[in-house]
Amino acid sequence: MQKQEFIQRMRQDLANDVKHNKTSVERIAASFGITDKNTVKEFTELAIVLEARRLSLRALPVYDRYMSIVELYNKQVTLSHRTSQSMLLQQYSTPAPIGFIAGVFCGMDKEGFYFEPSAGNGLLTIASEAHNFAVNEIDDVRRSNLKEQGFFKVYDQDATKPFPFIKSFDAIITNPPFGKVEPVKLNEFEFTVLDHVMCIRALDTMKDNGSAALIIGGHTAWDDKGRIQAGKNRNFFVYLHKYYNVVDCINIDGHKLYSRQGTAFNTRLILISGRKKVPGGFPPFYNPESDYTVYSFEELYNRVAKYIDRDLTDKNDFTSAFELEAEALALELELMNFKK
Ligand SMILES: C[S@@+](CC[C@H](N)C(=O)[O-])C[C@H]1O[C@@H](n2cnc3c(N)ncnc32)[C@H](O)[C@@H]1O
Repeated sequence: MQKQEFIQRMRQDLANDVKHNKTSVERIAASFGITDKNTVKEFTELAIVLEARRLSLRALPVYDRYMSIVELYNKQVTLSHRTSQSMLLQQYSTPAPIGFIAGVFCGMDKEGFYFEPSAGNGLLTIASEAHNFAVNEIDDVRRSNLKEQGFFKVYDQDATKPFPFIKSFDAIITNPPFGKVEPVKLNEFEFTVLDHVMCIRALDTMKDNGSAALIIGGHTAWDDKGRIQAGKNRNFFVYLHKYYNVVDCINIDGHKLYSRQGTAFNTRLILISGRKKVPGGFPPFYNPESDYTVYSFEELYNRVAKYIDRDLTDKNDFTSAFELEAEALALELELMNFKK
């Protein structure tokens, strides 16, 4: 099997705007002795990761690099092949432009010490030189693709379990698989959503003043009082706002921004800047000015770019009237329960 030759060919075709579909990619792969369709998909994604990192590391303004990665995404082949393993492990990777801008938010375009705990083929690491990253992945093919990229460490750990390096990294970035999990108790909270548990494990490895970008499934919905609807989601956001400075949570439309990665599932991008010195606080109330869904890469850029290279660790900037109102309502509810 001529893996490197195939990847080189796919990179060249991407750079030269050669359009492909699943059949044409599989035909080229077969000419290099690669016939397993899932392997073809994984190697094709590796070629995309390598091209995206090349574009991301050029000495150009963030916006120009972002738009060139959007262009790359728009010409990549749709990675639609699925297997029982890929569905079980929810191996739907992040579109490269989202990985890039989320990484820039985390400061990963500068030298540092970063972690991706369910790294797939590395699409969330593209804002950075690979040597700045430790990555983790349980799938063998994906881990072998990661090993070729020059990350300073490639781990093979179940990311639902605690990592041995607590508060170690300048930033973490993750798009864990979405699903259910047996109840896991973390501090005074209990979680049954896989992506919530894996995000919290990842956050535990972030330094107190670190940054994080988390991608989780679904969109936020609010009740008639403007609070996040009661249930698993509210539980997760109450945890996040209690322990971390949550800068933004962006609903991303799956059809418009994700479909070339083989899924149209809606997602949220959660941006975090540091751990709270004193735990406390609640998720803010619904705010029509910021709680809208983004339907294009341009909109996503505008939404994230305003935070780039700003010191966000002082949360006062972002403790909006909505968050103060949410605290007041929470207090009111607590008092009402107390009086019952
Ligand atoms: C949704 S994909 C995202 C991959 C990559 N983060 C990206 O955005 O392109 C989730 C990844 O997590 C891996 N995975 C699934 N369960 C895992 C676990 N328990 N521990 C570590 N990795 C896991 C899958 O193999 C898959 O590559």
